[in-house]
Amino acid sequence: MNLTIRACNAAQLPTALLLEADPHLPYVQAYLADGHCYLAELDDLVVGLYVLRARGPGILELMNIAVVPNCQAQGIGTQLLQHALHSARQLGAMRLEVATGSFGHQLTFYQRAGLRVYAVEPDYFLRHYPEPLFEQGLQHKDRLRLAIDLN
Ligand SMILES: CC(C)(COP(=O)(O)OP(=O)(O)OC[C@H]1O[C@@H](n2cnc3c(N)ncnc32)[C@H](O)[C@@H]1OP(=O)(O)O)[C@@H](O)C(=O)NCCC(=O)NCCS
Repeated sequence: MNLTIRACNAAQLPTALLLEADPHLPYVQAYLADGHCYLAELDDLVVGLYVLRARGPGILELMNIAVVPNCQAQGIGTQLLQHALHSARQLGAMRLEVATGSFGHQLTFYQRAGLRVYAVEPDYFLRHYPEPLFEQGLQHKDRLRLAIDLN
């Protein structure tokens, strides 16, 4: 398999794939406006993406990471996440953060890469998303914030 991951323009990121990770388009559009965008291609087909955005001095946030559904669980997400850690260092960040409503495989996925939970935001999804979000029949309510030091 010939996977390439490269920086790209926001316009090159497929909207449907962005929405796999974050289903509220206005939020996605807001962080695409000033995000660093990356695309993963397998033999010229888009199979994944991620977006980084500045959160504060020396801090970048992974705003979106997604792999096309029929290519998941094959290691592409892990390669994207490792690439994101590398890109964040290249961009001068000392810390990478991510927020998630998932307590499922996504949480394991981040923790396996060394990210650790440092905060819980109770009711975040109830207060900030206009539509209820469900995963595996479970409604997203609280948001977890994770981070890793890049030094
Ligand atoms: C999270 C995501 C990017 C991981 O990408 P991926 O290519 O599947 O990741 P990997 O193949 O490297 O797998 C990471 C682990 O998650 C597991 N996994 C992936 N998809 C899974 C699924 N649908 N259900 C259960 N486990 C899953 C893999 O089996 C693997 O665990 P293992 O090493 O024990 O086998 C991908 O699942 C995805 O795009 N999900 C939809 C968007 C999303 O939720 N983004 C994150 C928002 S917080």
